[in-house]
Amino acid sequence: MPKITTFSGYFHEYQKSIVQPQKFWERIAETFHWKKRWTNVLDWNFEEPSVKWFVDGKLNITENIFERFLYTKGDQPAIIWEPNNPKEAYRVLTYRDLYEEVNRFSNALKSIAVVKGDRVVIYMPMVPEAAVAMLACARIGAIHSVVFAGFSSTSLADRIKDCKAKVVLTSDGNFRGAKTIPVKDVVDEALEKCPSVKSTVVLKRTNTEINMRVGRDMWWHDVIENESTECNAETMDSEDMLFILYTSGSTGKPKGVVHTTGGYMVYTKYSFENVFQYQQGDVYWCTADIGWITGHSYIIYGPLLAGATTLMFEGVPTFPHPGRFWEIVDKHQVNQFYTAPTAIRALQTHGIEPIAPFKLDSLKVLGTVGEPINEEAWHWYHDHIGKNRCPIVDTWWQTETGGILVSPIAGITPTKPSYATMPLPGIQPVILDNEGNELFGNSVEGNLCIKFPWPSMLRTTYGDHERCRQTYFSSFPGYYFTGDVVRRDEDGYYRILGRVDDVINVSGHRMGTAEVENAIDEHPLVIESAVVGYPHDIKGQGIFAFVIADMSQRSEESLIQEIRETVNRIIGPIAKPDKILVVPGLPKTRSGKIMRRILRKIASGDASNLGDTSTLLNPEVVEDIKKAAGV
Ligand code: WTA
Repeated sequence: MPKITTFSGYFHEYQKSIVQPQKFWERIAETFHWKKRWTNVLDWNFEEPSVKWFVDGKLNITENIFERFLYTKGDQPAIIWEPNNPKEAYRVLTYRDLYEEVNRFSNALKSIAVVKGDRVVIYMPMVPEAAVAMLACARIGAIHSVVFAGFSSTSLADRIKDCKAKVVLTSDGNFRGAKTIPVKDVVDEALEKCPSVKSTVVLKRTNTEINMRVGRDMWWHDVIENESTECNAETMDSEDMLFILYTSGSTGKPKGVVHTTGGYMVYTKYSFENVFQYQQGDVYWCTADIGWITGHSYIIYGPLLAGATTLMFEGVPTFPHPGRFWEIVDKHQVNQFYTAPTAIRALQTHGIEPIAPFKLDSLKVLGTVGEPINEEAWHWYHDHIGKNRCPIVDTWWQTETGGILVSPIAGITPTKPSYATMPLPGIQPVILDNEGNELFGNSVEGNLCIKFPWPSMLRTTYGDHERCRQTYFSSFPGYYFTGDVVRRDEDGYYRILGRVDDVINVSGHRMGTAEVENAIDEHPLVIESAVVGYPHDIKGQGIFAFVIADMSQRSEESLIQEIRETVNRIIGPIAKPDKILVVPGLPKTRSGKIMRRILRKIASGDASNLGDTSTLLNPEVVEDIKKAAGV
């Protein structure tokens, strides 16, 4: 049950959480099932950093889903699964069904020698078995690392190698709209470079003809066949790793953000219930993929820890028609609906006709996440989907934060289009200028930092703690730095303005510009490249690549096509540049750094005020680029 039910109640809770954070979180933690109580609520410093919540507490997160609810909710739907193709039957797994499936698969994992602390990579479609896989890992103390199934074999291999996974869970193929994607081939290719992997378990989903490597590959239905539906939950320490999730930053390869057990459990449930004002019996639907943090915290862990009914959708918003989301809302009588601004903008382009056949009268709360929502999309969502009666929760958070940090409480916090509004209890955001001075009061803008730990924050980056310190705790010593720039307006409301670093947000997916550049540079004719984001009507930001290349061997058109394919092969379709411009040079400072500020301006189609270019090593190149770009 949500704790916060009035606006004054929110302020009251917030105040308590700031004055006595330990006491505040302890009271919430006490509502969970622990095998052994903690000795200390919180130990922390942001210098190393070292953050420990519920120190020495022992628990298993799945006991807080299953053992806790079996007697009261055994027959209640835990997961409603809607397939890609509406002609296929949907599935409902009750809490008891899910418990039994998780136990069977836990035993299966044990039978292939997975033990506590082993890493298991999950590269699967959005089917209930993916949830079963995650929860089975948690049940036996294995650490899951879900990789979005749209990533390429190179990206998958990088992640498997980084965490030295022992097992990979996958499928014979994935359905995505009208397409069938041969994911097992992707896994096979990745595994050629991954000696740590001893076995794979393959779920039959599409009946695609695939190669099964003897001694390594097993069918899901075979490994569970004779397994018992009972499996004792491993005893975990609060600070034992629950999962690793890779995310992009401004430099280097994606890093493995590490979340631990106790704090993550407490925070995801608390934030889920309060933000969405979930009431028992409601049907909640988050359209994210389990390959992202939103899928972890707000399809699986948060809702299931709250005993909710969570809907999982395998498909895409426009298949077989652009009213599919709304058809599903009516079909399953969805009460809370949580999606990304990109999806809203994409559906907006189809007009309101696709919505007309549906009632949408079950909806109570709408949510958005992943990127700033522009006012137009906010109003469209509010008017045409929420019919002017559903509050919108614009939830700001990150892979690293584990849960929602700044958001309205549905129906309680007055909303303002494109504002994430106020911090949840326990969250102490501050705005710092570039020198690290805290900007007090309202009507200020700057770097968004958090000055006090919260239970679901990242603990480290896998295998490289120094990288965690460098990335998040060194820009502003003593603070967690989000990488976002924010404005606190005259009412004290927060509005996230975007990233301050070289991370771009394309359709709600985080991408490092360096990562895309590295992929482009793999093309043998590319000499150098620079990637920037530019405003894109649907995706929020598009990817613009400026490329210097040897043009003697291809037409410009075919080279551009090949570069796009190279990026697709190395990272995956989500990283394919929207625009590629072949240029004679890139603007550089005397120390050889690319002046991205200039490229960003040109990419946005506005070359009117490029600022001072006289310090450039090669100012003349700016005119050439402008000409090539036609601005
Ligand atoms: C951006 C997704 C504006 C932000 C949960 C953040 C947002 C990055 C919002 C994290 C929002 C997320 N309004 N921007 N409501 N939510 N962002 O790790 O730049 O995939 O730093 O986590 O998305 O993306 P990530």
